[in-house]
Amino acid sequence: MTSPEPATPVPSGGTPPPGCPAHAMSPEGLRRLYGPEAEADPRGLYEALRAEHGTVAPVLVQGDLPAWLVLGHRENLDVARTPSRFSRDSRRWRDMQEGNVPADHPLTPVAAWQPVCNFADGTDHERLRGAVTESLERFDRRGIRRYVTRFAGQLIDKFAEAGRADLVADFAEPLPMLVMTQLVGAPDSYGPRLVQAARDMTRGTDTAIASNEYLSVALRQLLEAKRASPGHDFTSWLLEHSASLTDAEIIEHLRLVVIAAFETTANLIANTLRMMLTDRRFRAHLSGGHMTLPDALEQVLWDEPPLTTILGRWATGDTMLGGQRIKAGDMLLLGLAAGNTDPEIRPDLTSPVHGNRSHLAFSGGPHECPGQDVGRAIADTGIDALTSRLPDLRLGVPEDELRYDSTLMSRRLVALPVTFTPLGSRTGATPLPRPPVAEPLPAAAAPPPAAPPPAALAPEPVRRSWWARLFARR
Ligand code: HEM
Repeated sequence: MTSPEPATPVPSGGTPPPGCPAHAMSPEGLRRLYGPEAEADPRGLYEALRAEHGTVAPVLVQGDLPAWLVLGHRENLDVARTPSRFSRDSRRWRDMQEGNVPADHPLTPVAAWQPVCNFADGTDHERLRGAVTESLERFDRRGIRRYVTRFAGQLIDKFAEAGRADLVADFAEPLPMLVMTQLVGAPDSYGPRLVQAARDMTRGTDTAIASNEYLSVALRQLLEAKRASPGHDFTSWLLEHSASLTDAEIIEHLRLVVIAAFETTANLIANTLRMMLTDRRFRAHLSGGHMTLPDALEQVLWDEPPLTTILGRWATGDTMLGGQRIKAGDMLLLGLAAGNTDPEIRPDLTSPVHGNRSHLAFSGGPHECPGQDVGRAIADTGIDALTSRLPDLRLGVPEDELRYDSTLMSRRLVALPVTFTPLGSRTGATPLPRPPVAEPLPAAAAPPPAAPPPAALAPEPVRRSWWARLFARR
């Protein structure tokens, strides 16, 4: 682990916000979890915080608001698994209650409470999440893999003859969204526009609001189409679920699932491909048959979790965590990447984890990601399809030219340029070792019926979901 430069210190003389023990300390001593220095070396920052504070560190987030970053593996699980102490309901956030989080604050889209399962606790959460998980469980895994193979093939066709590609923009990013389009039961024609809309929304671009409107209109039309003509898809199953979700709840959960799946799975694919192309040891384990592709994905989920930090949990009462005094209403951030490198559980970060799934990439407890098997299936089937068709993929730029875009919650590879022998002109180039896959690709399942494409976009009140700007640069 590299030794970090300290993050930007807080200017002296600032008034410590009341109540939070993080600020009973001098604010000059606290590190910011945002800004250019924090984003340049997030791992270095986690290690500096761990050295200074142990498993739970007081930090500042955007607007110099206080929070606790949970760095310990065990402490992260404690927080995630005990909603009675650490709630998902952001209405408990004291800074929000006291008016310290203005409407245009960069964390508002991520932290403002919404009626979706990832802001709910207890029976409300069980009802909403039950509808999501039981509907996702109705998918035949083989059917999902069939979609992945089909869309991966279409994407590869577009660049196979060129001999070069950017595997982030041309493959890792579009693949999950194309598959999700099928799973929610939308016609293929939605796919490219949805990819563009989701990319826009998660980057906070100038067209992000228009893209969010497009998504709202498209999802509403999809709902109406499925009500009139139900199919074998997530939208139809949400509609018929015994939890009797309202139309608004269905639309919000469709949006949640589509956005939740997008950049996370794209990051997993991009990071795994990057490791295969740049890390000799990783490649040797794969080619030597010591590691299957699913094992390789787990290694990446440990080393480069697609979401590095989750915001957040809010303390329901005064409590202790990792030796720190947490006050009711304090905000906690789950440090998924930091917990995965906790020396208590991984004293030697260079040792392979061999398929061990106890990483925090999908969090834990009642909110643990319900789409993890879908994400894994998209990543391993997609990568297998790519490396089978283009076995001699090579990195197209020196490794030190690869760039990352870091935000509070994620670290995204900006581009992964590769070269390869163009399809059709192969003359025995040295192949990239084809990774062993654990399961063979299954037989085809019937595709879901298509919904009509969205009509002209009607103006609708814009409501940006908290996922909408999840990864947007602050
Ligand atoms: C590699 C890909 C993925 C990663 C790394 C990932 C990670 C996560 C994480 C860390 C959470 C937050 C849990 C918490 O608050 O404690 C989450 C929640 C969620 N994810 Fe995923 N996710 C992935 C793919 C997906 C996919 C493909 C879907 C849908 C098919 C999905 C649907 C959801 C939903 C609905 C939630 C909210 C669950 C709740 O609050 O009860 N995710 N995910």
